[in-house]
Amino acid sequence: MDFQQKLEERVKEAEKIIYSYMPDVKELQGVVIDAMNYTMSAGGKRIRPVIMKAVYDMLGGDDKIIEPFMAAIEMIHTYSLIHDDLPALDNDDYRRGRKTAHVVYGEAMAILAGDGLLNYAYETAAKTFDLIEVADVNDNEALVRELESRKQVERAVKILSRNPGIYGMIGGQVVDVSLTGQKLSEEQLEYIYINKTGALIEAAMTIGAVLSGTSNDIVDKISQTAYNIGMAFQIQDDILDETATFEELGKPIHSDADSGKVTYVTIHGIDKAYAEVKRLSELAIKTINELPGDGEFLKELVRYLIDRTK
Ligand code: IPE
Ligand code: IPE
Ligand code: MG
Ligand code: MG
Ligand code: MG
Repeated sequence: MDFQQKLEERVKEAEKIIYSYMPDVKELQGVVIDAMNYTMSAGGKRIRPVIMKAVYDMLGGDDKIIEPFMAAIEMIHTYSLIHDDLPALDNDDYRRGRKTAHVVYGEAMAILAGDGLLNYAYETAAKTFDLIEVADVNDNEALVRELESRKQVERAVKILSRNPGIYGMIGGQVVDVSLTGQKLSEEQLEYIYINKTGALIEAAMTIGAVLSGTSNDIVDKISQTAYNIGMAFQIQDDILDETATFEELGKPIHSDADSGKVTYVTIHGIDKAYAEVKRLSELAIKTINELPGDGEFLKELVRYLIDRTK
């Protein structure tokens, strides 16, 4: 099976899991659930759940406890997109090939749909505790296994709580928004990228690692790899904002320029930006080579991201 087929299969697998955890029972609040499902079902690359699972598999993970986290990370990512597109932030009218949630459902409902997705992500992640096998009190080995699993899930919940927050994604969005239109230092730009984009990719990958039961050393290496992938991912996003078509991206092009954003591309130009995407991706691949397990799919995924067109 070639990489493209493998990727399609893994995206399909991720979507099946995500949809199985999305809310469908509606009461008087049904409209917000519609708005949540509207943006979630519009598609998207599903890179975060796919990369989470790729790390988990590579490190020998083999359990359903990964699934609620795959759904949760995509819910958090999708909320971040709905809010990122709002008139008060990037003011974009298209996302994932559809009109944005605020255009279809109104601004108030889009804000609430984002809130709803964020909160539901934690409700979903908490369901993992119900998937842990409860040991017989007389079976010491099973008790140890249960305790280990509980510790891993606890750690994963901590990552899922911290990285999207003020010391991660929201922190990056805050600096992105507050410095829009200003000249950015290299340090400010890196802060924005590492946080607004890197932190969620890091959460995805380290949650995959932690739930696999691997050592702390390897979790640290995964974290380092994730930041390189995250930086590269955002620089490529900036490049595509300049070079891709609306049809390819499913979101407006030249959005950064139109809103006066300084990006890696505006500072360094397209060629240097592309070279940096390659350099960071190669660094990531080098670290993956030092990890245990079969890292082939993960490496191919990193290579695919370098030349992605959407
Ligand atoms: C877009 O993320 C926002 C960034 C962090 C650059 P994606 O490019 O992963 O968006 P979807 O999920 O494929 O729509
Ligand atoms: C968004 O960065 C990062 C988020 C946390 C959503 P961008 O504003 O560049 O993402 P796009 O280009 O709108 O997807
Ligand atoms: Mg933005
Ligand atoms: Mg945006
Ligand atoms: Mg962008």
